[in-house]
Order: sequence, then C-alpha cells, then structure tokens
Amino acid sequence: MAGRHAHAATSMAIVTDPEAMRAEVLAARASGRRIGFVPTMGALHAGHVSLVARAAEACDDVAVSIFVNPTQFGPSEDFARYPRTLEADVAAVEQGGARWVFAPQADAIYPPGWATKIVVDGPARRFEGEVRPGHFCGVATVVCRLFLTVPADVAYFGAKDWQQTLVVKRMVCDLGLPIEVVVCPTVREPDGLAMSSRNAYLSAEDRGRAAALFESLTAAGRSWQAGEPVAAIEQQMRTHLTSRGIAVEYAAVVDRNSLEPLTTPQTPAIAIVAGRIGKTRLIDNHLLPSRSGG
Ligand code: PAJ
Repeated sequence: MAGRHAHAATSMAIVTDPEAMRAEVLAARASGRRIGFVPTMGALHAGHVSLVARAAEACDDVAVSIFVNPTQFGPSEDFARYPRTLEADVAAVEQGGARWVFAPQADAIYPPGWATKIVVDGPARRFEGEVRPGHFCGVATVVCRLFLTVPADVAYFGAKDWQQTLVVKRMVCDLGLPIEVVVCPTVREPDGLAMSSRNAYLSAEDRGRAAALFESLTAAGRSWQAGEPVAAIEQQMRTHLTSRGIAVEYAAVVDRNSLEPLTTPQTPAIAIVAGRIGKTRLIDNHLLPSRSGG
C-alpha cells in the first residue's frame, strides 16, 4: 500500500554506503516525509514482510536494512551458516513498497579498529542474555549504529523477539535516541510455529516437533486464565516441550516489561520459551491476558 504521500514510482534503491544512506534519509525528511525503518538480518519471510507493510502504511518512505550482524552471534553460534538470500530479499522488500534497502558490508558498519560497544543491563540480563552472553551487546551496538545511519522517524520490530524489543526500547530511552519504536505482532505458520529465518535449518521431523513451542505457550495461556500458579504453568510448559523432544533452555512466566518475576497477579505477564531441536535453537513467547484476583 502507498504511504501517506505516494512517492513517484521510482524503483527501489540498494544502498551500501552508510553516509549515502544517511544523506538520503535526511533529505527525504527535510522535504517533510515520514520515514519508517525495518532492521533485519535478511533471509526474509512473512514476519519481516509484515513489518515492512506496517511501515509502508504509516510512513511515506520505508528503509529496510539487511545485515547479518557478526557481533550478535556467539563463537559457537550459526553466523557462518546463517541463511543469506539477498536477491530474494530485495525482491520481497521491493514488493512490500520499500524505497531503500540498506545492505552494507561488515567493514562499513564496523570500521577497522572499531572499539565501541553499547551495553544494556536491565531487560538484557536474563533469558537470552544469560544463554547467549554478548548477544544483546551486539544487538544494541548494531541497532544504535543503524539508527544513526538510517535516521528514521520510527522503527518497527517484531514481538517474536520480545526481549530484544525491551532492550532496544531501553537503549533508545537511555541514550535519548530520536526515534520511535513500534512493536508488531508475531506472524506464525498455520500450525502456530513463529516464522523465523532459522526454521530453514529444521529437518521435516524436527519441523513437526517445533509446533510444541507454540502449543506450550497457548496451554500456558489457558492455565493462566484458569488461575493456576506460575510455577505449575512453567512446569507444564517444560513437560510438554521435553515430551516432544525439545531441550528446554527456559520456560517462564514473567513481567512482560521487565522480564523479572511477577510481583502481583495483575502485573502484565508474558510466557517465554527457548529450546533446542537437534542443533536448531528456537524462541517464542505469548502475551498473557490480564487476570484478576489472587
Ligand atoms: P531478524 O531476526 O532478521 O529479525 C528482524 C525483525 O523481524 C526483528 O524485529 C524480528 O523480531 C522480526 N521478526 C522475526 N520473525 C518474526 C515473525 N515471525 N513475526 C514478526 N516479526 C518477526 O532481529 C534481528 O534480525 C536482529 O537482531 C536485528 C534487530 C536486525 C539486529 O541485527
């Protein structure tokens, strides 16, 4: 769908130089256009495309970055084999109505001798932060760099990576970065599996098992509404995942804004899970409806 003010039907530009990217966005903003930004690591699927569509609805011009950020992968993680599908990604983003794809080389984002990192505490501490030390430092560092390079009005993130949205919002607030952060709903496969670039790693058998993540979350939602205690709900999630051959890293019901334990029954809550199916690590979450009483 066209943005607020339809742009002349020019084809999308692929920009690799950060200074050129920044100049383009600043020029568009100076002419009064509202700019939306969708940061990604490519291997785009319908979840990413939903963010582009949301941005295109609310903004005049949309920039999508495609950059497999090395600093957010641990030494034994999947950086080298992370899927890279630039040609198809560019087609998908153009179809979605973006004006720019920003696809820099690593040394344009991390210049020779780079030595600056952004460390976020608070919401980055637990769960992904514990299992993947350094991950959120890599995310915060690259997102800050990207926000400075694509100085948009608003950036779009998926609820699929809920903890990441909290970390990015914390950083934007703490550094006073002049950008609005919008969180969009998770897009799922018909069986409930959250779309993820990493689903491509799954064998047919493991793909079948992967639906257990969403099953455990929806079951948690039902138990939550039935008033069951948090510890029991967490145990049910673990039992279900384990029974489907998923090695659970965490399965928790926590405060959705801090990821700390719930302090009152009225605290807005979220169920979050992470597990390994074979060599593939998947995460998912589910916002729980408010429940009254104690
Ligand atoms: P990536 O995993 O490519 O995801 C890019 C954006 O798409 C993130 O905001 C993510 O939450 C969102 N997304 C992924 N799967 C989704 C789904 N099924 N439904 C809705 N949104 C979904 O997240 C990253 O890249 C990186 O950490 C990044 C922020 C780009 C920094 O390198």
